[in-house]
Amino acid sequence: MLKKMMLLSLMIISITAAGAAFSAEYVGAKKCKACHIKQYKSWEETNMAKSFENLKAGAMADAKKKAGLDPARDYTGDAKCLECHTTGYGKPGGFKSLAETPDLINVQCESCHGPGGDFKEIMKTNKEFKLAEAAAAGLVIPNEKANNCMECHNDKSPFNEKVDAKYKFDIKDRLKKTHEHFPLKYQH
Ligand code: HEC
Ligand code: HEC
Ligand code: HEC
Ligand code: HEC
Repeated sequence: MLKKMMLLSLMIISITAAGAAFSAEYVGAKKCKACHIKQYKSWEETNMAKSFENLKAGAMADAKKKAGLDPARDYTGDAKCLECHTTGYGKPGGFKSLAETPDLINVQCESCHGPGGDFKEIMKTNKEFKLAEAAAAGLVIPNEKANNCMECHNDKSPFNEKVDAKYKFDIKDRLKKTHEHFPLKYQH
């Protein structure tokens, strides 16, 4: 019996360890800010950095009314909104709740660049930065063909192009508006 239990717990440990190796944890934009201050400041000016605030009662009342939502309601605990208005919702190490994961509110760097737990370590140690190594550790550089934008910019959003044409998602235009882009230090 004891032997069986030990074997079982060993199996659980190895499954968890294997899982962790394949899915890095989300670390939050503050960790990226330390090395990418320009991108951070520019992203901070966008609505993505206010997407949690916008779920609060009274915020963006006119837009909410138009989309058939109740402007007087607090949506910050509503799973239906959080999946798109926070970082890594439902994924390992991603947003759980304001109390548990306060650093993962809003649509942050890792919503587009992938969970940074592993690649940020590579960026720290790799003085001659190699994109392939960071990519192998989960870094995503979104482009027109390969991106996850439609996971959130879709018809499940109450703010889609059927509600108002201004919500139409033009990938070319939107990629440019993610944040300002600056030259890299290391060539690749
Ligand atoms: C996790 C969900 C999610 C993903 C993934 C996502 N977005 Fe968004 N995006 C949002 C939300 C939510 C908003 C609106 C925030 C608000 O106004 O409250 C937004 C807004 C934007 C805006 C407008 C910013 C502004 O200031 O008006 C741009 C540009 C944008 N997204 C581009 C992209 C691109 C490009 C991708 C893919 C590379 C992407 N998004 C992926 C959720 C997401
Ligand atoms: C499937 C993903 C998704 C879900 C679910 C979602 N949103 Fe959003 N939301 C978005 C995206 C994407 C945008 C940005 C639209 C754009 O810029 O074109 C947005 C924009 C907004 C805005 C800003 C609108 C504006 O005119 O700038 C508010 C407010 C908002 N969402 C509230 C909510 C609330 C409240 C819920 C839950 C009832 C919710 N959203 C559910 C993806 C989502
Ligand atoms: C909505 C998606 C999205 C978000 C959020 C986002 N990025 Fe980006 N990021 C991009 C895209 C698209 C590029 C440009 C890739 C290219 O040039 O082909 C990029 C490029 C970069 C680059 C390369 C240099 C440059 O300036 O272009 C860095 C560094 C970077 N992002 C860091 C960040 C950091 C740090 C954050 C959070 C503060 C962040 N990004 C948030 C989409 C995003
Ligand atoms: C310890 C410093 C450090 C931290 C922390 C860090 N980075 Fe980087 N990052 C770098 C360096 C150095 C490069 C190489 C780019 C260059 O030449 O300037 C880089 C490159 C990048 C690139 C561009 C890749 C390319 O070549 O196109 C992106 C995107 C990026 N980082 C995103 C992030 C995100 C998102 C986070 C937070 C999860 C983060 N970084 C955390 C130092 C860091």
